Amino acid sequence: MIPLPTFTDSRGSMSVLEQFDRIPFDIKRIYWIYDIPQGEERGSHAHKNQYQLIVAVAGSFTVEVDDGEKQTNFRLDNPTHGLMVMPGTWRTVKDFTPGSVCLVASSDYYNVDDYIREYNDFLDWKKG
Ligand code: TYD
Repeated sequence: MIPLPTFTDSRGSMSVLEQFDRIPFDIKRIYWIYDIPQGEERGSHAHKNQYQLIVAVAGSFTVEVDDGEKQTNFRLDNPTHGLMVMPGTWRTVKDFTPGSVCLVASSDYYNVDDYIREYNDFLDWKKG
């Protein structure tokens, strides 16, 4: 979990994602996931090369990360922190509270060839 620069005063709070400031990759793409129906899961894939930082900018959700051997759950519920997800990590995002917004900053442009979408292919790729 990476603490993000955060500024709070009587008007509210602001947190910042800025390339090179605590973020260990160049940010080429940002997307956000919202309007998630109750019980739905997102992700369930791995990236071969892309680094991603995930922030719960609203609400909360669980990110399950899996390196092919071990699964770890992170409950993201604080917009002042981002979860760094390294390349070669299977990730599933689940248990969203209503109104959640999941922001993802990525080290590269959208590239379908960077995805592994079948878990068994992921395990084979890790072995290779
Ligand atoms: P998908 O990878 O299934 O989303 P998630 O990882 O959240 O489950 O992406 C949903 C659709 O959006 C799919 O058709 C691919 C498209 N997409 C883009 O065109 N550009 C992007 O940057 C992303 C992340 C997805």
